[in-house]
Amino acid sequence: MSALLSIKGLGKRFGGLTALEDVSFEVDAGRIVGIMGANGAGKTTMFSLIAGNVRPSMGDIRFRGDSLVGRRPDQICRMGIARTFQIVKPFPALSVLGNLRTAGMFGKAQHRSAAQADEASMQVLRDLGLDDVADRPASTLTLAGQKRLEVARAIATGAELILLDEVMAGLTPVEVAAMLDTLRRVQAERGLTLLVIEHVMRALMDLCSHLIVLHHGRLIAEGDPQSIGRNEKVLSVYFGVSSE
Ligand SMILES: Nc1ncnc2c1ncn2[C@@H]1O[C@H](COP(=O)(O)OP(=O)(O)OP(=O)(O)O)[C@@H](O)[C@H]1O
Ligand SMILES: [Mg+2]
Repeated sequence: MSALLSIKGLGKRFGGLTALEDVSFEVDAGRIVGIMGANGAGKTTMFSLIAGNVRPSMGDIRFRGDSLVGRRPDQICRMGIARTFQIVKPFPALSVLGNLRTAGMFGKAQHRSAAQADEASMQVLRDLGLDDVADRPASTLTLAGQKRLEVARAIATGAELILLDEVMAGLTPVEVAAMLDTLRRVQAERGLTLLVIEHVMRALMDLCSHLIVLHHGRLIAEGDPQSIGRNEKVLSVYFGVSSE
Protein backbone atom coordinates (compact mmCIF):
# COMPACT_ATOMS: atom_id res chain seq x y z
CA MET A 1 0.00 0.00 0.00
CA SER A 2 1.43 3.39 -0.88
CA ALA A 3 1.58 6.22 1.64
CA LEU A 4 -1.19 8.82 1.96
CA LEU A 5 1.39 11.61 2.08
CA SER A 6 4.83 11.34 0.58
CA ILE A 7 7.45 14.07 0.93
CA LYS A 8 10.68 13.84 -1.06
CA GLY A 9 13.74 16.08 -0.97
CA LEU A 10 11.66 19.01 0.23
CA GLY A 11 13.45 22.32 0.60
CA LYS A 12 12.44 25.93 1.23
CA ARG A 13 14.58 29.03 1.16
CA PHE A 14 13.35 32.46 2.20
CA GLY A 15 15.93 34.75 0.58
CA GLY A 16 19.23 33.70 2.14
CA LEU A 17 17.62 31.68 4.92
CA THR A 18 17.17 27.93 4.49
CA ALA A 19 14.04 27.05 6.44
CA LEU A 20 13.91 23.41 5.23
CA GLU A 21 16.50 21.28 3.49
CA ASP A 22 16.20 17.88 1.82
CA VAL A 23 13.37 16.57 4.02
CA SER A 24 11.82 13.23 3.05
CA PHE A 25 9.26 11.11 4.89
CA GLU A 26 5.99 9.28 4.37
CA VAL A 27 2.76 9.17 6.33
CA ASP A 28 0.41 6.19 6.09
CA ALA A 29 -3.35 6.67 6.25
CA GLY A 30 -4.87 6.49 9.73
CA ARG A 31 -1.67 7.35 11.62
CA ILE A 32 -1.01 10.11 14.14
CA VAL A 33 2.46 11.46 13.38
CA GLY A 34 4.16 14.07 15.57
CA ILE A 35 6.60 16.72 14.42
CA MET A 36 9.14 17.89 16.99
CA GLY A 37 11.78 20.59 16.79
CA ALA A 38 12.93 23.77 18.50
CA ASN A 39 11.70 27.25 17.59
CA GLY A 40 12.59 28.02 14.00
CA ALA A 41 13.25 24.36 13.09
CA GLY A 42 10.94 24.63 10.08
CA LYS A 43 7.83 22.88 11.41
CA THR A 44 5.25 25.50 10.42
CA THR A 45 7.02 26.01 7.08
CA MET A 46 6.49 22.31 6.40
CA PHE A 47 2.73 22.71 6.99
CA SER A 48 2.63 25.83 4.80
CA LEU A 49 4.31 23.89 1.99
CA ILE A 50 1.92 20.94 2.29
CA ALA A 51 -1.17 23.18 2.48
CA GLY A 52 -0.01 25.31 -0.47
CA ASN A 53 0.39 28.59 1.45
CA VAL A 54 4.05 28.62 0.46
CA ARG A 55 5.73 27.11 -2.61
CA PRO A 56 8.69 24.74 -2.23
CA SER A 57 12.13 25.73 -3.53
CA MET A 58 12.93 22.06 -4.12
CA GLY A 59 11.42 18.62 -3.87
CA ASP A 60 7.96 17.12 -4.15
CA ILE A 61 4.91 16.55 -1.98
CA ARG A 62 2.43 13.88 -3.04
CA PHE A 63 -1.01 13.19 -1.61
CA ARG A 64 -2.37 9.82 -2.73
CA GLY A 65 0.24 9.90 -5.48
CA ASP A 66 -0.77 13.34 -6.83
CA SER A 67 1.76 16.15 -6.60
CA LEU A 68 0.61 19.17 -4.59
CA VAL A 69 3.35 21.45 -5.84
CA GLY A 70 1.94 24.47 -7.67
CA ARG A 71 -1.62 23.96 -6.42
CA ARG A 72 -3.45 26.67 -4.53
CA PRO A 73 -4.51 26.25 -0.87
CA ASP A 74 -8.20 26.02 -1.81
CA GLN A 75 -7.45 23.29 -4.36
CA ILE A 76 -5.39 21.35 -1.82
CA CYS A 77 -8.17 21.75 0.75
CA ARG A 78 -10.68 20.29 -1.69
CA MET A 79 -8.35 17.33 -2.24
CA GLY A 80 -8.73 16.53 1.47
CA ILE A 81 -6.02 18.34 3.44
CA ALA A 82 -6.77 20.96 6.10
CA ARG A 83 -4.47 22.83 8.46
CA THR A 84 -4.85 24.84 11.62
CA PHE A 85 -2.87 28.01 12.27
CA GLN A 86 -0.46 28.50 15.16
CA ILE A 87 -1.97 31.96 15.66
CA VAL A 88 -5.67 31.09 15.59
CA LYS A 89 -7.47 32.56 12.58
CA PRO A 90 -11.24 32.27 13.01
CA PHE A 91 -13.64 34.60 11.23
CA PRO A 92 -14.11 36.57 14.48
CA ALA A 93 -17.47 38.13 13.71
CA LEU A 94 -19.04 34.88 12.49
CA SER A 95 -20.59 32.52 14.98
CA VAL A 96 -18.79 29.31 15.87
CA LEU A 97 -21.28 27.44 13.71
CA GLY A 98 -20.82 29.99 10.92
CA ASN A 99 -17.07 29.32 10.91
CA LEU A 100 -17.70 25.61 10.40
CA ARG A 101 -20.45 26.18 7.82
CA THR A 102 -17.98 28.10 5.63
CA ALA A 103 -15.41 25.31 5.98
CA GLY A 104 -17.97 22.65 5.05
CA MET A 105 -19.16 24.48 1.95
CA PHE A 106 -15.74 25.41 0.56
CA GLY A 107 -13.67 22.39 1.64
CA LYS A 108 -13.68 18.82 0.41
CA ALA A 109 -17.09 18.15 1.97
CA GLN A 110 -18.63 20.53 -0.62
CA HIS A 111 -22.01 20.73 1.11
CA ARG A 112 -24.52 22.11 -1.38
CA SER A 113 -26.65 24.04 1.08
CA ALA A 114 -26.15 25.88 4.33
CA ALA A 115 -28.64 23.50 5.97
CA GLN A 116 -26.64 20.47 4.94
CA ALA A 117 -23.39 22.13 6.08
CA ASP A 118 -24.98 23.07 9.42
CA GLU A 119 -26.09 19.52 10.12
CA ALA A 120 -22.59 18.15 9.51
CA SER A 121 -21.05 21.09 11.39
CA MET A 122 -23.19 20.53 14.49
CA GLN A 123 -21.94 16.94 14.63
CA VAL A 124 -18.34 18.17 14.53
CA LEU A 125 -19.13 20.74 17.26
CA ARG A 126 -20.61 17.98 19.44
CA ASP A 127 -17.46 15.89 18.87
CA LEU A 128 -15.29 18.82 19.95
CA GLY A 129 -17.49 19.85 22.90
CA LEU A 130 -18.34 23.19 21.29
CA ASP A 131 -22.05 22.64 20.61
CA ASP A 132 -23.02 24.79 23.63
CA VAL A 133 -21.29 27.82 22.08
CA ALA A 134 -22.38 27.23 18.47
CA ASP A 135 -24.20 30.59 18.27
CA ARG A 136 -21.54 32.72 19.97
CA PRO A 137 -19.22 34.93 17.91
CA ALA A 138 -15.90 33.11 17.51
CA SER A 139 -14.05 36.08 19.03
CA THR A 140 -15.76 35.54 22.40
CA LEU A 141 -14.27 32.08 22.99
CA THR A 142 -11.49 31.43 25.52
CA LEU A 143 -8.06 30.43 24.15
CA ALA A 144 -8.90 26.75 24.74
CA GLY A 145 -12.20 27.28 22.91
CA GLN A 146 -10.49 29.02 19.99
CA LYS A 147 -7.94 26.20 19.69
CA ARG A 148 -10.82 23.71 19.61
CA LEU A 149 -12.55 25.81 16.99
CA GLU A 150 -9.43 25.64 14.78
CA VAL A 151 -9.50 21.85 15.03
CA ALA A 152 -13.26 21.74 14.45
CA ARG A 153 -12.99 23.93 11.39
CA ALA A 154 -10.28 21.72 9.88
CA ILE A 155 -12.41 18.62 10.45
CA ALA A 156 -15.53 20.31 9.06
CA THR A 157 -13.81 20.76 5.68
CA GLY A 158 -14.16 16.99 5.30
CA ALA A 159 -10.38 16.55 5.09
CA GLU A 160 -8.84 13.19 5.85
CA LEU A 161 -5.35 14.60 6.45
CA ILE A 162 -5.32 17.24 9.16
CA LEU A 163 -2.28 19.33 10.06
CA LEU A 164 -2.44 20.57 13.66
CA ASP A 165 0.01 23.40 14.48
CA GLU A 166 0.42 23.73 18.26
CA VAL A 167 -3.25 23.32 19.11
CA MET A 168 -2.28 22.64 22.74
CA ALA A 169 0.07 25.60 23.19
CA GLY A 170 -0.97 27.88 26.04
CA LEU A 171 -3.49 25.42 27.46
CA THR A 172 -3.50 24.31 31.09
CA PRO A 173 -2.47 20.70 31.83
CA VAL A 174 -6.13 19.80 32.34
CA GLU A 175 -7.06 21.37 29.00
CA VAL A 176 -4.15 19.56 27.29
CA ALA A 177 -5.35 16.23 28.67
CA ALA A 178 -8.89 16.95 27.46
CA MET A 179 -7.62 17.93 24.00
CA LEU A 180 -5.56 14.72 23.77
CA ASP A 181 -8.66 12.65 24.62
CA THR A 182 -10.70 14.53 22.05
CA LEU A 183 -8.09 14.18 19.30
CA ARG A 184 -7.72 10.44 19.92
CA ARG A 185 -11.48 9.89 19.87
CA VAL A 186 -12.20 12.02 16.82
CA GLN A 187 -9.26 10.54 14.90
CA ALA A 188 -10.46 7.00 15.56
CA GLU A 189 -14.16 7.69 14.93
CA ARG A 190 -13.56 9.55 11.68
CA GLY A 191 -10.57 7.53 10.47
CA LEU A 192 -8.45 10.67 10.14
CA THR A 193 -4.72 10.97 9.57
CA LEU A 194 -3.12 13.59 11.80
CA LEU A 195 0.19 15.42 11.54
CA VAL A 196 0.77 17.16 14.85
CA ILE A 197 3.27 19.91 15.70
CA GLU A 198 3.66 20.40 19.44
CA HIS A 199 6.25 21.67 21.90
CA VAL A 200 4.64 19.80 24.82
CA MET A 201 6.82 16.74 24.34
CA ARG A 202 4.96 14.51 26.79
CA ALA A 203 1.71 15.16 24.94
CA LEU A 204 3.33 14.29 21.61
CA MET A 205 4.90 11.10 22.96
CA ASP A 206 1.52 10.14 24.39
CA LEU A 207 -0.53 10.83 21.29
CA CYS A 208 1.65 9.74 18.38
CA SER A 209 2.72 6.35 17.08
CA HIS A 210 5.48 7.92 15.02
CA LEU A 211 7.62 11.03 15.50
CA ILE A 212 9.67 13.17 13.13
CA VAL A 213 12.35 15.47 14.51
CA LEU A 214 13.46 18.60 12.64
CA HIS A 215 16.58 20.57 13.54
CA HIS A 216 17.65 23.69 11.62
CA GLY A 217 15.43 22.62 8.72
CA ARG A 218 16.73 19.07 8.47
CA LEU A 219 15.09 15.83 9.48
CA ILE A 220 17.50 14.40 12.06
CA ALA A 221 15.46 11.45 13.35
CA GLU A 222 12.19 9.58 12.96
CA GLY A 223 10.69 6.57 14.65
CA ASP A 224 8.37 5.45 17.43
CA PRO A 225 8.30 7.54 20.63
CA GLN A 226 10.49 5.06 22.56
CA SER A 227 13.26 5.08 19.98
CA ILE A 228 13.10 8.88 19.64
CA GLY A 229 13.35 9.19 23.43
CA ARG A 230 16.63 7.23 23.27
CA ASN A 231 17.98 8.75 20.06
CA GLU A 232 21.40 10.33 20.67
CA LYS A 233 21.03 13.08 18.07
CA VAL A 234 17.67 14.07 19.54
CA LEU A 235 18.98 14.01 23.12
CA SER A 236 21.98 16.10 22.20
CA VAL A 237 19.82 18.68 20.41
CA TYR A 238 17.22 18.88 23.18
CA PHE A 239 19.26 18.38 26.31
CA GLY A 240 22.89 18.80 25.25
CA VAL A 241 23.45 15.15 26.22
CA SER A 242 26.32 13.50 24.38
CA SER A 243 27.67 9.98 24.56
CA GLU A 244 31.26 11.22 24.24
N1 LIG B 1 7.44 33.86 5.26
C1 LIG B 1 8.70 33.82 5.74
N2 LIG B 1 9.65 34.69 5.30
C2 LIG B 1 10.91 34.64 5.76
N3 LIG B 1 11.35 33.77 6.70
C3 LIG B 1 10.45 32.89 7.18
C4 LIG B 1 9.09 32.85 6.73
N4 LIG B 1 8.43 31.86 7.39
C5 LIG B 1 9.35 31.30 8.21
N5 LIG B 1 10.55 31.90 8.09
C6 LIG B 1 11.80 31.52 8.80
O1 LIG B 1 12.00 30.14 8.58
C7 LIG B 1 12.50 29.50 9.76
C8 LIG B 1 11.55 28.38 10.15
O2 LIG B 1 10.34 28.96 10.63
P1 LIG B 1 9.08 28.12 11.07
O3 LIG B 1 7.99 29.07 11.36
O4 LIG B 1 8.82 27.07 10.06
O5 LIG B 1 9.61 27.44 12.40
P2 LIG B 1 8.84 26.55 13.50
O6 LIG B 1 9.60 25.28 13.62
O7 LIG B 1 7.40 26.47 13.19
O8 LIG B 1 9.10 27.42 14.82
P3 LIG B 1 8.13 27.69 16.11
O9 LIG B 1 8.32 26.50 16.99
O10 LIG B 1 8.71 28.92 16.73
O11 LIG B 1 6.72 27.86 15.62
C9 LIG B 1 12.63 30.59 10.80
O12 LIG B 1 13.97 31.03 10.79
C10 LIG B 1 11.69 31.68 10.31
O13 LIG B 1 12.10 32.94 10.73
MG1 LIG C 1 5.72 27.10 14.11
